[in-house]
Amino acid sequence: MRVEIASKTLPGNKSKKILQKLRKLNGAWNYPYPFVLSHEGDRCHFKDIDGNIFLDFASQISSNPFGYNDKDINQVLKRYKKSPVKYAGQDFVIKEHLNLIEELLKTTKKNLNSAFLVNSGAEAVENAIKIAMRMRKKAKFGISFENSFHGRTIGALSLTNSKVIHKKNFFSIPMRRLPYNESAIVKLENLIKREISSEEIAFIIMEPVQGEGGYNFPSQKMVNDIANFCKSQGIPFIADEVQTGMGRSGKFWCMEHYNIVPDIMSSAKALQVGAVISNRKNFPEPGSISSTWGGGDVINLAIGIEIIKKIRKSNLLNHVNHIGEYLMKRLKELNLEKVRGKGLMIAFDMPNKKIQRDFIVESAKNGLVLLGCGEKSIRVIPPYVVSRKDVDEAIEIIEKSYKNIRKRGFKHSGYVCNFMECGEGYT
Ligand SMILES: Cc1ncc(COP(=O)(O)O)c(C=O)c1O
Repeated sequence: MRVEIASKTLPGNKSKKILQKLRKLNGAWNYPYPFVLSHEGDRCHFKDIDGNIFLDFASQISSNPFGYNDKDINQVLKRYKKSPVKYAGQDFVIKEHLNLIEELLKTTKKNLNSAFLVNSGAEAVENAIKIAMRMRKKAKFGISFENSFHGRTIGALSLTNSKVIHKKNFFSIPMRRLPYNESAIVKLENLIKREISSEEIAFIIMEPVQGEGGYNFPSQKMVNDIANFCKSQGIPFIADEVQTGMGRSGKFWCMEHYNIVPDIMSSAKALQVGAVISNRKNFPEPGSISSTWGGGDVINLAIGIEIIKKIRKSNLLNHVNHIGEYLMKRLKELNLEKVRGKGLMIAFDMPNKKIQRDFIVESAKNGLVLLGCGEKSIRVIPPYVVSRKDVDEAIEIIEKSYKNIRKRGFKHSGYVCNFMECGEGYT
């Protein structure tokens, strides 16, 4: 497949009808992309219901590692034709529940030997902090980092420090915040010298690379400092690997790049279900944590198992690293600002927020799906199965789109601005 925008407008007529209805009926309307997917597609390309073909360099926000119509995933789908597909998995066990936990724990270090499956990233974080709180009986608050994103349930949202729209009017659990740079340790040491005892800290939670916050990569020193501090004070160190984990960074877990094994880890997105992973001894007594669907439906579990197996079987991490290097090299050739990345977790910067928005919309009009993050960054996060040909096609569109929006007097035109956040604001 190659990119082809066939409809006269974006969204095309069929998509427009669905999107217009959704805008009225979906209470969490959030300016989705201006197309409706058709389920047709091939690896990194997908077709919408108007027949347009797009190239996906956003991987459904990092949650679709094998793209569209992967033959092994389709084989899994064939196996599950009979209902029910949903089981109340914490109380009524199915073998897929065990199989996914077993596969997951094959990817983690020895002391991360137990996992609890949930439904989303936020729920994984929520349970990670509950486990930590139960471990720390005298604790009064948690610690996270400026710019972080950990999800939108009230507990996870309390840790989040991203955009005011996520938080205003919502109460928070007690939190302190550290800068996401090497000065974090100084602030932390001052905190326990001057204000509180370390026993009052329930946990420190950190994204190994900040995702929504702008693809910020911490230094080895910063990660070491925080991990060592936690160890010396007996504070649970939580790595939120919801976006970075399950192969995206070129290793199963991004913390492996830093040679750090956290006490507790959250996963979701590419795993297809949420998971919180820790040592068996850290999990609280039976009845303390649970969830009806814990682990989503049987198809999610089965696909999660296949994803882990296929990453290993096909040596995909090797491919993620090599193709990631190629993608970074091609982006650098375009002289874009601050091209950075690990594996296929790659980003670059635009000069400002308006240009960031304009660029994303223009790329979509030219058939390339990208996502923003932070103040002015662009995420480049294709499915792991991306080929050199796909990268070359994406680079062509990036170059063309950037040239277009930098022309004097550029302004978006067309129906697309009713559905996407153009640089001038919503129209
Ligand atoms: C690092 C991190 N943690 C948690 C979450 C929340 O995951 P979910 O949207 O599945 O609740 C996200 C989502 O983007 C994330 O990037």
